[in-house]
Amino acid sequence: MDKYDIFLNDLNKHLDLDLHGYKRPQMERRINSLMRTLQIDTYDNFIKRMREEQLIFNRFLDHLTINVSEFFRNQSQWDVLKEKILPVLLQNNKSIKIWSAGCSTGEEPYTLAMILEEYCSQGNYSILATDFDLNVLNKGIEGVYSPKDISGIPEDYLKKYIVNQNGSFRVKDNIKKSITFKKHNLLKDSFDTNFDLILCRNVVIYFTEETKSQLYRRFFYSLRTQGVLFTGSTEQIIQAREIGFNSIAIFFYQKP
Ligand SMILES: C[S@@+](CC[C@H](N)C(=O)[O-])C[C@H]1O[C@@H](n2cnc3c(N)ncnc32)[C@H](O)[C@@H]1O
Repeated sequence: MDKYDIFLNDLNKHLDLDLHGYKRPQMERRINSLMRTLQIDTYDNFIKRMREEQLIFNRFLDHLTINVSEFFRNQSQWDVLKEKILPVLLQNNKSIKIWSAGCSTGEEPYTLAMILEEYCSQGNYSILATDFDLNVLNKGIEGVYSPKDISGIPEDYLKKYIVNQNGSFRVKDNIKKSITFKKHNLLKDSFDTNFDLILCRNVVIYFTEETKSQLYRRFFYSLRTQGVLFTGSTEQIIQAREIGFNSIAIFFYQKP
């Protein structure tokens, strides 16, 4: 076991953060660059500082995971969701249950809710929005964004669902009410079941191939029959067929 492996074990043991499923070169680079910035010279000292100072640990989490998100990120895929996928999902269901896994600061679940408001007339949908980083979740729960953040929201949705509050932009309560934000680690915690739709987009980039494959299998079991997994724009699932998925559009996988 080298120093990096010992660091990962200590991180897991003392700070309850398991990075074994993440690609080593990218993680190692990030960890080392933050240690340089903070002028911490050894992994042992780094663990010690994170255990003593919550702020350092938060900074580590921030640095480790790229939390960038956008409303209507990769617009053409949201169009496919609207035009091809939702009509099928809503065909036989009065209400639909959705999970935005790795939701970051909330743009993804809020985008979904705005789209669904148009389709489910009685607001008959629920969205579980999870992330393992509490800082980003809190921003999602707050639902207040800058002018730049909201630039991707189409004009008609903006008018209906966003309020200008002295130059900051707040998501209206009728959109918020269908979303439950919750802390959840995809590599550690158990998964809820019977989802009609799971979104896991731009989350797995740092996961090893083995971790990704296990995760996609777990999503498969969490979907109900006919349920759909929606992945990110560079995240085609190579072993989709082997897992049991039918690929029904690029980045959309259905459980038969
Ligand atoms: C780049 S953001 C993607 C946000 C959104 N899905 C999107 O596509 O715009 C990736 C998010 O995945 C979260 N994440 C990374 N590893 C995770 C894990 N093991 N469990 C839960 N969330 C994780 C990060 O905290 C980060 O907020």
